[in-house]
Amino acid sequence: MDRSTYSRRRMEVARVLREGGGGVAVLPTAPERIRNRDTHYPYRHDSYFYYLTGFTEPDSWLVIDEQGRSTLFCRPRDPEREIWDGYRLGPEAAPAALGVDAAFPVEALDEQLPLLLADRAAVHYPFGLHVGLENRVEGWLAQLRAQERRGVAAPRALRDLTVALDDMRLVKDEGELALMRQAGRISAAAHLRAMQYSARWMREPGGTPWREYHLEAELLHEFRRRGAQAPAYPSIVAAGANACVLHYAAGATELKPGELCLIDAGCELDGYASDITRTFPVDGRFTAPQRELYELVLAAQEAAVAATHPGARQRDAHQAAVRVLSEGMLALGLLSRDRHGSVDDVIDSAAYRQFFMHGTGHWIGMDVHDVGNYLQDDEPPVEQPDGMGGRVVKKPSRRLQPGMVVTLEPGLYVRPAEGVPERYWNLGIRIEDDAVVTPGGCELITRDVPVAPDEIEALMREA
Ligand code: GLY
Ligand code: MN
Ligand code: MN
Repeated sequence: MDRSTYSRRRMEVARVLREGGGGVAVLPTAPERIRNRDTHYPYRHDSYFYYLTGFTEPDSWLVIDEQGRSTLFCRPRDPEREIWDGYRLGPEAAPAALGVDAAFPVEALDEQLPLLLADRAAVHYPFGLHVGLENRVEGWLAQLRAQERRGVAAPRALRDLTVALDDMRLVKDEGELALMRQAGRISAAAHLRAMQYSARWMREPGGTPWREYHLEAELLHEFRRRGAQAPAYPSIVAAGANACVLHYAAGATELKPGELCLIDAGCELDGYASDITRTFPVDGRFTAPQRELYELVLAAQEAAVAATHPGARQRDAHQAAVRVLSEGMLALGLLSRDRHGSVDDVIDSAAYRQFFMHGTGHWIGMDVHDVGNYLQDDEPPVEQPDGMGGRVVKKPSRRLQPGMVVTLEPGLYVRPAEGVPERYWNLGIRIEDDAVVTPGGCELITRDVPVAPDEIEALMREA
C-alpha cells in the first residue's frame, strides 16, 4: 500500500472529527508482550494503527486533529538498541517516510499531548482496547484543566474512535482486496500441500506414524515459502473425532486411513488475514457416510454463497445454510421427524444446533474476526430468531455492500448420542471460504483449493 493510501485514510478521520463537532484522535499501536523473562511473543502491530500509518514498530502513537494534521510519536534512533533489536525509523525520517506532518520521540508524548488537546472539543480514542490508555487521557485532561484560569480549555467529551474506524475498515479498497486475494491464494496452496502430503504418506508402507503436527508443519512451510509473515490464527488440524472440537489446535493425534482430517488454517500477509477450512479423507477416499455428510455441508455452503450479494443481510447466509442443513439432518436421520417435526420446526426450535452450533460467517480483513458492526444501525429494531430457539427484538443484520469481505463456513459435528445413527458418529466437517461482496454477487477468493469431493479425491490420487 503506498503512502497516499494512509494519508487519505487520516484525512477521512479528520473529516469524521469535524462532522462530530471537532476534536483530536489519539491512537497507540499494540504493546510488546513478554512471554517469559526477557523473551517476547512475536510482535504484531495494532490493526487500527497500521490502517492509518502503515507503520509496524512498537511504542508508536498517532494523533490526528480536525484539520487533518497528523503527528507520529515513535522510538528514537538508538545505535546501541538497534544492534540488539533492529533498525528504527526514528522521528527525523518519519514525515518523509510516512507522510505525517510532524514526528516526536515517544518520550515526548506526555509533554506534547496536552498541547495537541488544548482548546479542542473532544478526545477520540479506542475505548476498552489498550490497558492504561484511559488513565493517560485523564492525565492529559487534568494537566489542561489546571491551566483553565489561564484561558486554556480542556476537551469536554470523550468519544470512541473505533466507531468511525470500524466502518472504514469494513469496506475494503482495491489495494486491500488485492492483498486479501493473494493471502487467499497462499492459504489455498498450503491446504493443497497438506492434502497432497497426506495422500503420499498414506501410500508409504510401514512409515512412521503421520500426525496432525506434520500437516501443521506443511501449512507453515507453504505460508512462509510464499512470503506470508505468519498464520492469521492458530492452525486447526483435527484428525478423526478431534474435528468435533471447534477450536482444537493441531496436536499429536495420529492420522488414520478411513478417517477425515479437518484443517482450518490461513495466513496473514502484510497485515491481512485469510481463513480457509477443508475437510478431506486422510487416505484420499471418502467413505459413504463421510460423503453423505460432506455433500450436505457443501450444499449448505452453496446456499450461503447464493445468499451473499449486495442488499442481502450478512445473516442471510447463515439462515440459508441452516435451512439446508436442517433439511439434511431430517433426511439423513440425524434428527427424527417424529421427535423434531418439520424443517421449520427444527429451525424454530434450533434443534439443528446439536450438530451445527456456530455461525456461518464473520467479517474478515486485517483481523481474522474483523471489526465492523453486524447490525444495521440506521434501521429500527425488528423481532427475529435469537438463534437459540427463542425470539428477540433487535436491529436487523447489516446489509452487504461491495467491498465487504465475509467468510462462509457451515459445518456438521456429530458426537455419539442416543438416537444418532452410528455411521455418522465422530465425524466433524466444515467447509470455509472467504468471499468478497461484488456488485453482482460475491467472489470466492480461496477456491484455488477445491471443495468438490470428487476433485479432492482426484487431487489426492494424483499427489
Ligand atoms: N478460523 C477461525 C474461524 O473460522 O472463525
Ligand atoms: Mn472463519
Ligand atoms: Mn476458519
